[in-house]
Amino acid sequence: MNPSSSAHPGGEHRTVLVTGGSRGIGAQIVRRLAERGVQVGASFNSSPQQAEELAVELGDRVAPVHYRLGSESSARDAVSAMTSTFGGLDAVIVNAGFWKGGLIERVSHEEWWSVIDANVSSLSYMARAVLPSLRQAKDPSIVLVASVVGLIGHAGDTAYGAAKAAMVGFARSLAKEVGRDGIRVNVLAPGFVDTDMTSAVPDTARERIYDETVLRRFGTADEIAKAAVFLSEDATYCTGSVLSVDGGWSL
Ligand SMILES: NC(=O)c1ccc[n+]([C@@H]2O[C@H](COP(=O)([O-])OP(=O)(O)OC[C@H]3O[C@@H](n4cnc5c(N)ncnc54)[C@H](OP(=O)(O)O)[C@@H]3O)[C@@H](O)[C@H]2O)c1
Repeated sequence: MNPSSSAHPGGEHRTVLVTGGSRGIGAQIVRRLAERGVQVGASFNSSPQQAEELAVELGDRVAPVHYRLGSESSARDAVSAMTSTFGGLDAVIVNAGFWKGGLIERVSHEEWWSVIDANVSSLSYMARAVLPSLRQAKDPSIVLVASVVGLIGHAGDTAYGAAKAAMVGFARSLAKEVGRDGIRVNVLAPGFVDTDMTSAVPDTARERIYDETVLRRFGTADEIAKAAVFLSEDATYCTGSVLSVDGGWSL
């Protein structure tokens, strides 16, 4: 057992990597974990400044970590950075994602593949990188942030929808591979949240999504973050689960 994780579930000394943790939903997951006393790696790709500002806001428990989707060596380096900074790694929340929309007949092969590679190939890179550390941890966990689009579909999102649906199959297969090691693997499927990623969604599409959302409002990053922390830290008898946090959009 890794001594760095000995105080779970109180949070003290537990260590979690949150990919895409520098802004949007990921930054809120980092805040929620840090307030529980968890040591958190907040990954960034192109803009270290926001991850550094988060570390200043939250103190020594939070460290910026570089991570780039679609790169096996970057996944390995991010995990190494976590273990050298904090002495171990108990869980990863795979939150970084790449969205590119477009109707199927207008999406080039390169655009299609960029979405599949960033969102799906990266799962195998990250799993291979983290499993040796997670096998040393107490209550190790992997959470994949997918999307309601992977469950119910959305016109103009065939690549993104295919990638997010693949996360469910990946998680359930991996859960069966690593359950005997005590490693839980779960999926979170958020609905619509106002972030930089959704800022380009046109008003007509926003209005349609709003009308289809049973609670008649969009979600907040904090509402998604609380569910991610639940799956990572508290859902100790859940594996292979898919938790929709979408205001009823998928009903
Ligand atoms: N917002 C929604 O309505 C919604 C709904 C369902 C699911 N989701 C999913 O939730 C997750 C977070 O979405 P968000 O809306 O919070 O996104 P966001 O606000 O755009 O944040 C993106 C985060 O991911 C990092 N990132 C971007 N491109 C990356 C790359 N190529 N490699 C590694 N890291 C990268 C960014 O770091 P840099 O700033 O350094 O680039 C940043 O930390 C995604 O997986 C998304 O698909 C979002």
